[in-house]
Amino acid sequence: MACSFFKLGCKVYMVKVSYEQKPFRREVMRTYGATVTPSPSMDTNIGRQINADHPNTTGSLGCAISEAVEVATSTEGYRYVLGSVLNQVLLHQSVIGLETKAACDKYGIKPDIIIGCAGGGSNLGGLISPFMGEKLRGEADYRIIAVEPASCPSFTRGKFAYDFCDTGKVCPMAKMYTLGHDFIPSANHAGGLRYHGMSGILSQLYHDGLMEAVSVEQTSVFEAAEMFARVEGILPAPESSHAIRVAIDEALKCKETGEEKTIILGLTGTGYFDMTAYEKYNDGTMTDYIPTDDDLAKGFATIPNVNL
Ligand SMILES: Cc1ncc(COP(=O)(O)O)c(C=O)c1O
Repeated sequence: MACSFFKLGCKVYMVKVSYEQKPFRREVMRTYGATVTPSPSMDTNIGRQINADHPNTTGSLGCAISEAVEVATSTEGYRYVLGSVLNQVLLHQSVIGLETKAACDKYGIKPDIIIGCAGGGSNLGGLISPFMGEKLRGEADYRIIAVEPASCPSFTRGKFAYDFCDTGKVCPMAKMYTLGHDFIPSANHAGGLRYHGMSGILSQLYHDGLMEAVSVEQTSVFEAAEMFARVEGILPAPESSHAIRVAIDEALKCKETGEEKTIILGLTGTGYFDMTAYEKYNDGTMTDYIPTDDDLAKGFATIPNVNL
């Protein structure tokens, strides 16, 4: 599916930090025929504006969305499809949860904890959907944990408010946990988790106390990724490794208390395109960044004043 999509002459706006940190992902898309531009670029109005407002910015998903929407709406024959955050994307990804649930039922497994990384919330929303259904109907209870980077803590430090889904304010607003549409996170290696907001569905579930959220720092995430790779023989994506970190932490708690728990985690991707990040971790040059309250206050100031 990806091949035919890119062969259509697809134009991709790739978050600048990912464009630089994930050259192999970029080259896969170019090989299939896509034109890949680092975002924010200088070829859209919104890209030029963002570059002027934030010189030398490494970009964010919010910036790339604005640029892609601008091009799609101003170019004949172009369409834009959002790959995360929105309800239909979670619905699409519910296939992950349905397959997981079918496997659990087949083998008589009842998970105690379900863990997933959360960027815009689509893989986690999809994974938990049948389990959350049971929880909402009072048929079963599960602990559900969203894991986000400490550098972009939408759930754990964000505000539940109406905000724009993109930096350039060309998309509609949504009620969600947000750091403010103008918040640009530091150059975290889990580029797919650098989104200022969060799925509206997950935001409501979190707000209602039906799921938990934790944030983790990237060096501890890569420590978990390394352990997972050595034990399982699978090299995980940095995004997925956030979930792995917390799954290991929960397993270690069980080891201490002697409790037995079944933990499910969402493994969302391979790390083979992220070897620059692994190289930094292996060389001991990876750093962590946690935004200060002052950094976050600047983003919060951009949340529109329409909240009831
Ligand atoms: C490998 C991987 N996992 C997870 C995500 C997070 O996205 P979401 O929270 O929408 O599932 C991304 C986003 O690009 C990703 O590339």
